[in-house]
Amino acid sequence: MNTEQPLALLGGLTPKQFMKRHWQKKPLLVRNAIPGFVPCLGRSELVALAGEEGVESRLIIDSDKGWRIKHGPFPKRSLPPFSQKKWTFLVQGVDLHHDGVHALMQQFRFVPDARLDDVMISYATDGGGVGPHFDSYDVFLLQAHGQRRWRIGRNQDLSLQSGVPLKILQNFEAEEEFVLNPGDMLYLPPKYAHDGIAQGECMTWSIGFRSPQEGELARELLLGLADEAFDGVGDALYRDPKQPAAIAPAAMPPPLVDFARQAIAKALNNPHLIDSLLGEYLTEPKAQVWFDPVDDEPDVSAGVQLDRRTKMMYDERHLFINGESFRVGGRDARHLRQLANERRLTAKAVGALSQDAQNALRDWMSAGWMKTL
Ligand code: SIN
Ligand code: CO
Repeated sequence: MNTEQPLALLGGLTPKQFMKRHWQKKPLLVRNAIPGFVPCLGRSELVALAGEEGVESRLIIDSDKGWRIKHGPFPKRSLPPFSQKKWTFLVQGVDLHHDGVHALMQQFRFVPDARLDDVMISYATDGGGVGPHFDSYDVFLLQAHGQRRWRIGRNQDLSLQSGVPLKILQNFEAEEEFVLNPGDMLYLPPKYAHDGIAQGECMTWSIGFRSPQEGELARELLLGLADEAFDGVGDALYRDPKQPAAIAPAAMPPPLVDFARQAIAKALNNPHLIDSLLGEYLTEPKAQVWFDPVDDEPDVSAGVQLDRRTKMMYDERHLFINGESFRVGGRDARHLRQLANERRLTAKAVGALSQDAQNALRDWMSAGWMKTL
């Protein structure tokens, strides 16, 4: 990706400028971020998606009796009538289900894939919204259809209302207010308070990010290290030729404690293993993703393209795809990194790969992770 080219998507900023000035720091309102934007997915398709098993969706109703929330799937006709005001439904991970939405998400790859999460799409009737709140992650809110009035502020007080089924700020104070039209977009950094209310029927696409939590990462990597530890650390037995006769037999011998600490230090002293576990974790498909294996003999000679649900990343030594890691080097590494970055590889580049790498491509195609270009 050319990071020095001014983009309409970023209001004329280059990705480099945007990341330096706004990312994780301050909001950016972009009028006409996608000029002439015509959403490739409408209300009825979104309703159909919200009815499917394995698609995460929520219905939020702002009624006289307060906020109500229901979780999907929503079978046909289980949503309130479209003539009823002040309700919204939100569908998570639409990029996994729709090529056009997935393609739009690719425009945001000036942020690393390891951080990009999904596209959530909301539909709201007049007055609908999810209340004043903050999110823990960065978000681009792209207005896809109709109008939404956003009020935003740097609330210092992030305390939440109690006794409501949603996270609603107790004391929301808006500092700025804008009405977004189709094609307009608002970027908000994490923890920036916001409240978006539909003015008439509206649809908003949220391009969202993931930010691994320290403790969660430590847990995941330690689980992986634990699996490898028995063979990786070795089978040396504790020896204690200098153990004096025990006066207090129940007391733990300090050298045994040191031996245990050293064993742990050995298990942790494997940076390449930590790197590969991290890549496997970050490319793990989402829980609701199932690939359909392909029966036909896979043919990669015409070039390949990744399935929209495939996650592929790399580091200096490894290539990661859908939770698996491979050691690669030389020309194979160059071309497979190109596949990860561009999500496609031409016939010529496939032809330049080693037999091992071509076999790996065939395996991935059989697994349904990629298809012919
Ligand atoms: C919405 O689309 O209604 C909510 C998006 C958000 O506030 O994060
Ligand atoms: Co939000």
